[in-house]
Amino acid sequence: MAKAANSPHGDLSTVRIGVVGHGVVGSAFTALVARQRDVIAARTGVLLDVVRIAVSDAGKHPAQVGGADVVTDAMAVATAKDVDLVVEAMGGTTLAGEVIRAALEAGKPVVTANKALLAARSAEFFKIADERGIDLLFEAAVCGGIPLIRPLRESLRGEPIRRVLGIVNGTTNFILTKMTEDGLDYASALRGAQQLGYAEADPTADVEGLDAAAKIAIVANFAFGVHVVADDVSVEGISKLSAGDIAMAHKFGYVIKLLGVAECDVQSGAVSVRVHPALVPLKHPLAAVREAFNAVLVEGEASGSLMFYGRGAGGDPTASSVLGDVIDAAVNLRKGTHASLGTFAKAMFTSVDDTRSEFMLSLEVADKPGVLHAVTGVFARNKVSIRAAEQDGIGNDARLVFLTHDARTADMKACLDEFHRLDVVSKVGGFIRIIGD
Ligand code: NDP
Ligand code: HSE
Repeated sequence: MAKAANSPHGDLSTVRIGVVGHGVVGSAFTALVARQRDVIAARTGVLLDVVRIAVSDAGKHPAQVGGADVVTDAMAVATAKDVDLVVEAMGGTTLAGEVIRAALEAGKPVVTANKALLAARSAEFFKIADERGIDLLFEAAVCGGIPLIRPLRESLRGEPIRRVLGIVNGTTNFILTKMTEDGLDYASALRGAQQLGYAEADPTADVEGLDAAAKIAIVANFAFGVHVVADDVSVEGISKLSAGDIAMAHKFGYVIKLLGVAECDVQSGAVSVRVHPALVPLKHPLAAVREAFNAVLVEGEASGSLMFYGRGAGGDPTASSVLGDVIDAAVNLRKGTHASLGTFAKAMFTSVDDTRSEFMLSLEVADKPGVLHAVTGVFARNKVSIRAAEQDGIGNDARLVFLTHDARTADMKACLDEFHRLDVVSKVGGFIRIIGD
């Protein structure tokens, strides 16, 4: 950290930043710093100066951006003597992990947008940051531009939070919106999300729910004060959803969203953390969340329901979160202090089979006498009660769609197993959970 000489703002400390990764997020961050530098200096007394930038392919980038050298050695940027603070915006879990570790071990605060890495190795990084007395901040890692981690970590630290439920992936929400509202097919909708910079380098992470799993794992840590990693999350993505599922949901008054859910049982303290598509009633606040927007409902005993809404992906919104963290870390560095991330207890998990929900299930069956009786018998044997049903003719067959009352997931799975074995059933659609009003 250097003292700025002859600054128009008086006695400013300059914090020199190394930015590792200059793609969608990194380049939006350096542009935002350039725009806001004077305002930040006036408000905080800290002058932010991006001095080095690392990229993978130098040929795609200019040799300098706003006076910062653009190089290809990420590790050299993270450990450079003239870098006080590191922004990791390259993604991936291998080199990015080494970069963060090296920067922290060299006593440099780190700001990262890398949820995949944090959801796997946060404990290791939090420990180093704590031992060194420096910041490791990551607001941008969960829901891009929406301030969520800081409210959970600070404002809601004492709140008995029972459930966090939300749309935490912009790409899948964009795809589902385009399929629902514009009738776009899945592949074209995904291409649109990629063109707009929402998708991960490998969009499988988005569509198979892994990106959402990483985010909801990080959220669960701070909501419940327990250690949760992405591997603890039960995950189902959107790639198996069909236009037929979307249309059927709409017919019953629902829209399909990919949700991240983290629940904590009041009595036992056991947590359930999962990602799955869900039918959301059209009048539910999450139903109105469209395109790449994200929204998260935090349900606390004392606070009641809180909703956090905004742009969950894209360069500028994510850069805004990165910048907020960079300012905090820079001010803390100047004061010789750091944010407290807290400690995390070992989590006790509820099996996903024991979670309960209402469900929608579709079956293709032979259209002949006795079939409905056979099908409803399966539900009855497995203690699943039917709330609504609808039949459509498809040639000699029929499509049956059922909405159930609240049921155990294990009991629904048992129904599915039986349907697969039933002669009169030609096709079993997967079940989709239903969220209450
Ligand atoms: P991009 O693919 O757009 O950018 C990645 C950047 O990292 C590129 O500049 C790339 O270089 C650079 N890079 C890759 N490998 C190396 C390497 N070995 N050495 C040096 N530089 C390297 O990714 P995003 O900006 O979209 O995402 C970055 C991170 O932010 C990820 O962790 C992502 O999950 C997270 N994130 C992304 C959001 C978004 O909306 N895009 C929102 C929230 C978080 P080059 O340009 O030469 O290819
Ligand atoms: N790929 C992520 C998304 C980026 O679509 O939400 C933001 O984390």
